Amino acid sequence: MNFSVTDNHFFKETSLLKEEKKGIITHRSPSNIALIKYWGKHGVQLPNNPSLSFTLTNAFTETKLDYQTKNETESKSEISLEFWFENKKNEKFEQKIRKFLESLLPTQPYLGFVHLKIYSQNSFPHSAGIASSASSMAALALCLCDLEKRLLNTLQNTEEFYQKASYLARLGSGSAARSVYSNIPITTWGKTDVVKDSSDLWASPYTLPIHDIFQNYQDTILIVSAEEKSVSSRAGHALMETNPFAKTRYELAHSNLQKLAFALENGDTDTFIEVVENEAFVLHALMMCSSPPFILMETGTLTIIKKIQAFRRETNIPICFTLDAGANVHVLYPNKYKKECLDFIDKKLKPFCFEGKYLKDHVSNQ
Ligand code: PMV
Repeated sequence: MNFSVTDNHFFKETSLLKEEKKGIITHRSPSNIALIKYWGKHGVQLPNNPSLSFTLTNAFTETKLDYQTKNETESKSEISLEFWFENKKNEKFEQKIRKFLESLLPTQPYLGFVHLKIYSQNSFPHSAGIASSASSMAALALCLCDLEKRLLNTLQNTEEFYQKASYLARLGSGSAARSVYSNIPITTWGKTDVVKDSSDLWASPYTLPIHDIFQNYQDTILIVSAEEKSVSSRAGHALMETNPFAKTRYELAHSNLQKLAFALENGDTDTFIEVVENEAFVLHALMMCSSPPFILMETGTLTIIKKIQAFRRETNIPICFTLDAGANVHVLYPNKYKKECLDFIDKKLKPFCFEGKYLKDHVSNQ
């Protein structure tokens, strides 16, 4: 399945060449934080293990796509694009998006029939060291699917629409596959026995039972470093190809996902914490034992982790952390302990944040 529209009869019969069409499409996509990490890929952005993430609420990208069909004399084998980020024309992002759209052109030829102007903005500060590729690629992919729907009258079925959006988002950035579903608390991506009909090609909403304790789960993102990561995701994934622990890691992801599904269903916060912190440590351990090695945690990251674990021991509040491929810390806790945890974060963890910065977020509600 590659969601190609090349052979689509609509495409052959389309009035795209004759009749001018224009319009504006907007989509908002949330950021997500992986609990079971995707790290290592093969083929065209296919994951080496299944992943699972919480969908966030306050951190999102909003993308507006302004399209107009080309006239008969203009080339249909080229992408015509202008890209604006936070109200300014952005050449660097434009180049990246152009490359992405060009890579889609052979299977999504309608992209060559339109002039595209894309305006994108994030709800979170640009310099916070928060990866925006997941939310931005997801919002763009949703816009592209809507464009196809409008131009070719395809993708009328909602499930197919979202699967294709997740599929296209995945081609832009793996974790973006999990960001096309707003208002879905948890998504999974990658083949796993735990989730029926799961696929390596696209992410799907997690439909297994979720205990009340995990409803409206809180995620406070502590900004430890606002600098760009010292290793790109692309290079990081590639390092897994020669990592001596790769096979064990992929097996562990499967068993951790199984354990996490049990914890989510039963409200077992001890198992949740065990799995989630293990996944974060393993991700960073993999980077530290790659060749060449990378240390992505900062001193502040470790101090914060130790303080979270000590606070948990002292209070019995099921607070824990996870990490992305960077120094920032996501602090996770049930909504019912929000007051105590925010108080602790503000008094004890804020001093270790870059310029005292942290962002309050929570898992999306259905
Ligand atoms: O989507 P990418 O290629 O930037 O990879 C993201 C990898 C992690 O954020 C570290 C884990 C994940 O599953 O999101």
